[in-house]
Amino acid sequence: MSDDPLAVTPRLGLGTMGIDDADRIAAAIETGYRHLDTAQIYDNEAVVGRGVERASVERADLSLATKVWADSLAPEDVAASTRESLDRLGVDYVDLLYVHRPIDTYDPEATLPAFDRLRDEGRVRAVGVSNFDAEQVAEARDILDAPLAANQVEMHPLYQQETLLADARRNGYALVAYSPLAQGEVFDLPELESVAEKHDATPAQVSLAWLAGKDPVVPIPRSASDDHLRENLAALDLELDADDVAAIESIDREKKLFE
Ligand SMILES: NC(=O)c1ccc[n+]([C@@H]2O[C@H](COP(=O)([O-])OP(=O)(O)OC[C@H]3O[C@@H](n4cnc5c(N)ncnc54)[C@H](OP(=O)(O)O)[C@@H]3O)[C@@H](O)[C@H]2O)c1
Repeated sequence: MSDDPLAVTPRLGLGTMGIDDADRIAAAIETGYRHLDTAQIYDNEAVVGRGVERASVERADLSLATKVWADSLAPEDVAASTRESLDRLGVDYVDLLYVHRPIDTYDPEATLPAFDRLRDEGRVRAVGVSNFDAEQVAEARDILDAPLAANQVEMHPLYQQETLLADARRNGYALVAYSPLAQGEVFDLPELESVAEKHDATPAQVSLAWLAGKDPVVPIPRSASDDHLRENLAALDLELDADDVAAIESIDREKKLFE
């Protein structure tokens, strides 16, 4: 097992929110995805687990991430609900366990030591947080014994997260970009369309290539379509130049999908 906290977030993952067909998960793995993102609240951990079982790739070669929902962040509930997540996923450990949102039953001094304990017990390889601002990240890093492996936040060309990107770079954790296509909202942006045309690519690929090119950002697009799965993974081979990046970063409209 690598000690590098970034090892649990291979460069592009599969978002699985709303995917309820295990064959789609297996198809993504066969296409080359090695990092799968689910959550207790998506109600599809068993589907993801069945997909992993059906695929021809060894479990040890996959990185599985799930998230403890906001109503289960009291220490005893972190332990119990994670056990249930592992059962549903059909695995002995997950590679990355996130605090899904810092709301409701989240109490940093109580919640985070419970995540440390799961890591000490080997049920969780690394600890992450999601929807945390820079101050909440700093507090979590202070309390956790484990190195913080990731903060998963909404990030795409219409919500560029400059502050958190700088913080992730400074402190050595991955910024996992959720809704990296803004659920389709980025497809009609003229800035992305012109970069796409220049590279004979699609706006979806431009959005993903821009994110994946910003180390340590890891986009996790969701797709249930074979064509889109391939197209999105191929975005890792698309090299944007400085003009392309400047064009995307000149976008001054903002759209946030999740509060
Ligand atoms: N931590 C959190 O609070 C949080 C919140 C939201 C999401 N997430 C995670 O982030 C993942 C991704 O975000 P998301 O599901 O909100 O949205 P997204 O990945 O930005 O967009 C998904 C949508 O784009 C379509 N799509 C994918 N690739 C495409 C392509 N190449 N061309 C055209 N359309 C394409 C998909 O349809 P097809 O199936 O037809 O391809 C789907 O409708 C989620 O699944 C979840 O794992 C986390």
